[in-house]
Amino acid sequence: MSSEYAILQLGDEKVELPIQIGTEGNRVIDIAKLYGETGYITLDDAFANTGATTSAITYIDGEKGILRYRGYPIEEIAERCEITETAYLLIYGELPTAEQLETFRTNIRAHKLLHEGMKTIFAGFPPDAHPMAILSSVVGALAIYCPDSLEPSDPQQCELAIFRMLGKMSTIAAFSFKQSIGRPFIYPQNNLTYCQNFLRMMFAVPSEEYEMDPDFVSALNLLLVLHADHGQNCSTSTVRMVGSSTVNLFSSVSAGICALWGAFHGGANEACINMLEGIHADNDNLGKHIDRAKDPNDNYRLMGFGHRVYKNYDPRATIIKETCHKLLEKNNLKNPIFEIALELEEVALSDSYFIERKLYPNVDFYSGIIYNLMGIPKQMFTVIFALGRLPGWIAHWREMHLAPGGMRIHRPRQLYTGSTERKFVPLIKR
Ligand code: CMC
Repeated sequence: MSSEYAILQLGDEKVELPIQIGTEGNRVIDIAKLYGETGYITLDDAFANTGATTSAITYIDGEKGILRYRGYPIEEIAERCEITETAYLLIYGELPTAEQLETFRTNIRAHKLLHEGMKTIFAGFPPDAHPMAILSSVVGALAIYCPDSLEPSDPQQCELAIFRMLGKMSTIAAFSFKQSIGRPFIYPQNNLTYCQNFLRMMFAVPSEEYEMDPDFVSALNLLLVLHADHGQNCSTSTVRMVGSSTVNLFSSVSAGICALWGAFHGGANEACINMLEGIHADNDNLGKHIDRAKDPNDNYRLMGFGHRVYKNYDPRATIIKETCHKLLEKNNLKNPIFEIALELEEVALSDSYFIERKLYPNVDFYSGIIYNLMGIPKQMFTVIFALGRLPGWIAHWREMHLAPGGMRIHRPRQLYTGSTERKFVPLIKR
């Protein structure tokens, strides 16, 4: 704790508020005791300037476009790490040794299968059910099927829940896709890597050999790694919020999946491809869509653009854009949707509306182009985001439970603006 403090003048009273300094030098004013000492709370719509917790997992400098997992630059992790290695780093704080990584992978593989009874849950969903809704429901149902790993205060149960969550989520994700197209489920195979397994469960059919494109395996790994954590975003905050009541990991993650689905968050990747295809169908009329995005009376937004934290190019978007170029060049392909995205970026980044508001492409702007190339349908885009973000959700849930001094339930306050006390009017007199 630093000895610095900020002074708040409340009428004649001066209140000293401690300043905490993060390892990267960021300074925050600690208001935890403000209410107890003065009766005041702070008001911060949409938590735009509120630090909800301390965390040692991910560092973001939104002004400079920097992202680091446990201190390692995202560019390096993206180039060198496989998703299970990244998950280990995020959850346990250090890069694993070869032995630790092998044990971790074995533990995850051991929990890939679902209870056969869970297949009846999938069967009950209508054929047009969105895979995100299926994913959150079935992940929530894991709390029914795994009753011996629900207790967050028991370290062994927590570890078991982590392996089960990491093992089963990709199976559930792939089954949700198979369910939506009416094809038989493909079971996981333990001799495959995490990404190979997922692609096989998604695209193989029992009647044929499945040949995997190694470029797609690498691209999927890259996308999962880039999505693996991002500080206190909406879904991660949801996982922490829900978990803070001491509920189990499965229920907390299920809530996180629901939060991710919205178009302002993870759902932006699906919305972005819809937008780019819409522009293409509209004779590539970029100007019309840019004008709509700028119109204060139109709630149309450029999807995949802008970010609460980044006021610079999202470093993840830079890597994904490069990968799009490489994949298209390697396969000698021209992709009209990618061409539109490139042009849209160029036009927007030279327009004063976007410059003044510091709106740049985010992680969701180019990712859909790669999913498209891999043959992944639009409705699965956000499911893959969820698969990628899972290690981050788990890392935050675990960090919260292991917090020195113990965990407290998350319970924001409010400024009440409703009616003052009123006299009740009986029904007959209303
Ligand atoms: N297109 C047009 N205008 C925008 C956009 C956009 N994509 N994003 C923000 N603005 C404008 C907004 O209208 C506002 O203008 P004004 O000051 O005139 O009222 C200003 O920029 C600030 O926007 P804000 O809504 O206060 O910013 P926020 O921090 O609350 O929202 C955001 C962040 C990501 C929700 C928003 O930028 C957005 O809706 N983007 C499109 C959806 C999207 O791509 N989401 C994915 C985010 S990255 C991955 C993830 O976190 O899941």
